Amino acid sequence: EKGGWSSFMAKEINEEPEAVLNTTLGRVHEGVVDIDELAGLDELFARIDRIVVVASGTAAYAGQVGKYAVERWARVPVEVQLSHEFRYSDPIITPETLVVSISQSGETMDTLLAVKYAAEHGAKTLSICNTQGATIPRESDAVVYTHAGPEVAVASTKAFVAQITALYLFGLHLARVRGTLDADAIAAQTEELLAVPAKIRQILETETAEVARLAHWMADSRAILFLGRHVGYPIALEGALKLKELAYIHAEGFAAGELKHGPIALIEPGQPVFVVVPSPRGSETMHSKVVSNIQEIRARGARVIAIAETGDVAVLPFADEVIRIPLAAPFFEPLLAVIPLQVFAMELSSAKGLDVDQPRNLAKSVTVE
Ligand code: M6R
Repeated sequence: EKGGWSSFMAKEINEEPEAVLNTTLGRVHEGVVDIDELAGLDELFARIDRIVVVASGTAAYAGQVGKYAVERWARVPVEVQLSHEFRYSDPIITPETLVVSISQSGETMDTLLAVKYAAEHGAKTLSICNTQGATIPRESDAVVYTHAGPEVAVASTKAFVAQITALYLFGLHLARVRGTLDADAIAAQTEELLAVPAKIRQILETETAEVARLAHWMADSRAILFLGRHVGYPIALEGALKLKELAYIHAEGFAAGELKHGPIALIEPGQPVFVVVPSPRGSETMHSKVVSNIQEIRARGARVIAIAETGDVAVLPFADEVIRIPLAAPFFEPLLAVIPLQVFAMELSSAKGLDVDQPRNLAKSVTVE
């Protein structure tokens, strides 16, 4: 069943290019995004004034990445709530609120209860789900399936990139309906999205050996930190979660700008820190701020592993190691930067002789509250 791979996780990481591609199939036609499952919802989409994403774990991080793009493209405020917090926060729900749930399994109890709560309080509900006919899509007003194929390993990988893909398609569909992006702008984003699968494949081919070497080198680390900014921030959080669940190493993700507000006190000589570096072509200011962050932690002895786009030479004087990702427009960098972090956690888990597919204490889908 593993098709020659050492674990389901290794197989599923290798399937990420197809997970992205298959999620776009039939939904992008010559630069126009039209999701069949959303036909008939134009009137709703035109009047919503707020989107609340409910999800847990990795799915919630996909929601955090999607928030930036949906807000930018469709000009609707998006907030991301952990599904288990949602019902207890007396959330403000009106008929103009769209609640979007994200779940690989479609069976996560906390997310299901959040969706039911939202519906009972008058919101419309949309499910982004990887499992045909699961409970959450059945309980929702509409569903956009991700087409990652069955995910067996407890650690979510291909479902994550498929969830971001589905959110981006949803954001572009919404932007068309709401008239917030013109046709050329939508076409340009679809072109970027359709280029992602080949770029993921390239990362898997060129960076895996180097990432495995790093994982062996860091196998005895007590703590590993991850920094990112903007869409790179949820990627830092996801990199840390993967490492916790797979390698049982204390790991934390931070927004790079928060460093000086506290976390920089953690830096001591030899502390490994992964930094997701945004492209200078997206925002030069943001890029140079992250490079300054690298300098600050390096000056305090951190061992910096930068994930930076090909050709970014500004990181070279300061980073101990550089993992390269192909050039992409800013919103599409997360779909690339997450790949080496997933591979790193998997390699570190196997370097420690742990069960990559079935980490201790965890279940693939959490069907209890
Ligand atoms: O099936 P779901 O997407 O609703 O699952 C949500 C989380 O339980 C899941 O993403 C979890 O965080 C993964 N083990 C992360 O790798």
